[in-house]
Amino acid sequence: MNKLLNLIKSRRSIRHYSDVDIEASDLAKIVQAGLTAPSSMNTRPWHFIIVEGKERLEQLSHCKTSGASPIAEAKIAIIVAADATKSEMWIEDASIAASYMQLQAEELGIGSCWIQIRGRLTADDQLSEDFVQQMFGIPETVSVECILSLGHKGEQREPHTDEEVMWERVHINEWKAE
Ligand SMILES: Cc1cc2nc3c(=O)[nH]c(=O)nc-3n(C[C@H](O)[C@H](O)[C@H](O)COP(=O)(O)O)c2cc1C
Repeated sequence: MNKLLNLIKSRRSIRHYSDVDIEASDLAKIVQAGLTAPSSMNTRPWHFIIVEGKERLEQLSHCKTSGASPIAEAKIAIIVAADATKSEMWIEDASIAASYMQLQAEELGIGSCWIQIRGRLTADDQLSEDFVQQMFGIPETVSVECILSLGHKGEQREPHTDEEVMWERVHINEWKAE
């Protein structure tokens, strides 16, 4: 079986983490994967804000009403942002970079979860993006797509299986109704 496909199947959203620290060299590899991702017209508009420290991560986990609790448990979070003035395709660019980082994390045995920020709200109806920008002094022109929570795995999840692959969603030469 192809090594990359196996890695893709093994990557699951990991929302619980152990107390073991992430090695600086592993974090560097994860970030390098993001910084090596393709981007529209090679504009490379990304900015990654690395967040460490229990208190800061706990505060950041209030960035939206639900679905952000993994941040509080994580060892490190990476805010995945991009300069929207540099590329109108910043959402795609940021998303691809985030996916690359998740796959590199998995290859290192580190669990990760994508926490959606763009388009989400905090408990008091503030835009999650504004909350994150204000907390870290991120300029308004730098938009936030998501946050990756990262840590050594505190839960084990089964890899995706071949049985769940939706081949029926593939259309060859013409649309085929399901
Ligand atoms: C665009 C996007 C937004 C997501 N937002 C969240 C989120 O806010 N919180 C969360 O816990 N998981 C989030 N996830 C993770 C998904 O729930 C997860 O990828 C999906 O259930 C499939 O499970 P898997 O990642 O284990 O394959 C998000 C994933 C994507 C791609």
